[in-house]
Amino acid sequence: MSMNDRIVSVDSRDWARPIAGLVPELEAGKVLFFPELRFELTPDEARLLRADVREEKSRNISLRNDGVLAGAAVQGDEKARLAAMIGRFRTQACALIDAIAPAYKPALRLAPTSYRPTQVESRVQSWRADDRRLHVDAFPSRPNRGERILRVFTNLNPDGEPRVWRVGEAFEGIARRFVPRARPYSAWQARALKALHVTKSLRTEYDHLMLQLHDGMKGDLDYQRDCPQVTMPFPPGSTWVCYSDQTAHAVMSGQFMMEQTLHLAAEAQVNPAASPLGILRRVTGRPLL
Ligand code: SIN
Ligand code: FE
Repeated sequence: MSMNDRIVSVDSRDWARPIAGLVPELEAGKVLFFPELRFELTPDEARLLRADVREEKSRNISLRNDGVLAGAAVQGDEKARLAAMIGRFRTQACALIDAIAPAYKPALRLAPTSYRPTQVESRVQSWRADDRRLHVDAFPSRPNRGERILRVFTNLNPDGEPRVWRVGEAFEGIARRFVPRARPYSAWQARALKALHVTKSLRTEYDHLMLQLHDGMKGDLDYQRDCPQVTMPFPPGSTWVCYSDQTAHAVMSGQFMMEQTLHLAAEAQVNPAASPLGILRRVTGRPLL
């Protein structure tokens, strides 16, 4: 298997220019890499590239859909400038998704936009929260019933430092390896987690399996070392897009990145059978929802 084809390089310098032919690649779980697609900063904004703009207790700075900025340690003009910078990234990231996948437009649901000014290598975390291990995104408190997690990233680093990722094998291989090892789903346990507000809504069998894949991958050091993977240094001034619930990824180093998440129902994809829900249904023979 060639791992080089997990990343598709796209020559575009314009966030809004329509680009045909990328949806099948995206829906196959590949990373769309735009080496020359830069998020431009004004000189005033460039001064916000420092770790202490983030509140110590927050992991990221995020701009909510209602315009409220969370996690920032700055006030006044600086805070307004930070919110405007993140808001402009949101607009450009949404334009890029419309340019790649116009068919998604009516189905997209916008999540908060995040600015990540923290040095990845310095974070101390439990193995389950450690994104330096290859994983697919699945969040214990936020069941999503098969809804997709589509993400746009851009590296803003002012010192030439790349954001270094590892990208792993296709989802089908992950499902075939880790589904047989997954603990069985328990409906009563899912109801208890919801009653205790551990989860924001009912954890479905799909959500359970996705967490089992996430934890199974991160907890298996032999898999982390030996699975098919490629290391990809995303340079400053580049942008990349992937379905992070499907693309196995790990972040090894880097600092200063923007990220926009968009959600859409698996049924709203061009090829729903290519989604994690479609693949897991096929692998398990169960509806999962
Ligand atoms: C992740 O989603 O695992 C982290 C990606 C990053 O911070 O580069
Ligand atoms: Fe992740």
